[in-house]
Amino acid sequence: MPFNIGLGSSRILGLDIGSSLIKAVELKELKTGYELQFFDTYPLPHDVIVDGAIMDSIRLSETLKEFINKKKIKTKDIAIALAGHSSVMVKRIAIPEMTEEELSESIRFEAEQYIPFPIDEVNIDFQILGPRPEAGQMDVAIVAAKKDVVNEYVTVLKETGLNPVVVDVAAFALSNMYELNYEIEPNRVVALFNIGASTMNMCVVVGGLPVLARDSSVGTNMITEALQREFHLSYEDAELLKKGVSLQTVSVEDAEPVIMSGAEEILIEVARSIDYYRTQGGEEVHEIILSGGASLIKNFNQALSERIGIEVRTAEPFRNIKIPKKFDPLLIDEIGPVAAVAVGLAIRRPGDR
Ligand SMILES: Nc1ncnc2c1ncn2[C@@H]1O[C@H](COP(=O)(O)OP(=O)(O)OP(=O)(O)O)[C@@H](O)[C@H]1O
Ligand SMILES: [Mg+2]
Repeated sequence: MPFNIGLGSSRILGLDIGSSLIKAVELKELKTGYELQFFDTYPLPHDVIVDGAIMDSIRLSETLKEFINKKKIKTKDIAIALAGHSSVMVKRIAIPEMTEEELSESIRFEAEQYIPFPIDEVNIDFQILGPRPEAGQMDVAIVAAKKDVVNEYVTVLKETGLNPVVVDVAAFALSNMYELNYEIEPNRVVALFNIGASTMNMCVVVGGLPVLARDSSVGTNMITEALQREFHLSYEDAELLKKGVSLQTVSVEDAEPVIMSGAEEILIEVARSIDYYRTQGGEEVHEIILSGGASLIKNFNQALSERIGIEVRTAEPFRNIKIPKKFDPLLIDEIGPVAAVAVGLAIRRPGDR
């Protein structure tokens, strides 16, 4: 459900600008399916992005330029995603049945009463989800993105010499990634979670279609902070420990219980998100597919599965994508799960709905 903001070529770079790591994916469309053209990541300094909004546009632009130069990225047309509960909001509403055209006319009016932000300050988009059991009614997902947040991203990308053509929502990019890589079963309820350093995106898909999206400001930084507090470490050392690298003063074994207690709040927030889906009339969730940095933490998936009582699988964003030999299979295996949103963005084209 991207906001289309320009016309571009068919080559698009999916750029997922996370608060700790930038992920870039480019895919080539084949007759059947896709082939990987480019995948890489680049670290972003602390505090450049906070709750999905740009706090330091100069540093962001500089970092993007470094990334582009070092990795010789040529593609200029960019698809990005918004995330974070104060930047973008997705809500499912029931309205009388009408065509897409009719709804385009009336969406601002329909949306106004559901949006917690002043209507003049947001871009609105929507997606018709399907008919409701009640005759003459249909479900629609409305998306409201803060104009100033969108403008900020567009401005920074343009200043970097890039051409933003699609602005999507992270949760919907996840459902795109799912559709591309997994066999769709009609009534299967799957909760897609992308848990990064500071934000968690959830998208519930039923039969492959998104029915609910929710973002929370909870992420693996909480684990880094717990390690820092417990062992009096710098941020950098705590990050290494979290990634399974023993330090001179602290071993990975010693860190494990602290990592797991730091993960507690993340587990609670996942449970809360699933509960939210249930209170919205959702059915039983059959499976969780987990992406983002959290999915790389040892034993995290298992802890999550035990806590929630739902099977948890690590996302495989490149599962159905042909990988040419020049790519290091280890890179795809080891950090592939952080690319979920970027893959979903890479298959967006201007004009999609
Ligand atoms: N091997 C690993 N083991 C554990 N954690 C890892 C590993 N590799 C990366 N991480 C952590 O994953 C996080 C980055 O994940 P991700 O790219 O999903 O976050 P992000 O998109 O930058 O953040 P957000 O979207 O929340 O702003 C970092 O906190 C990093 O420390
Ligand atoms: Mg992220």
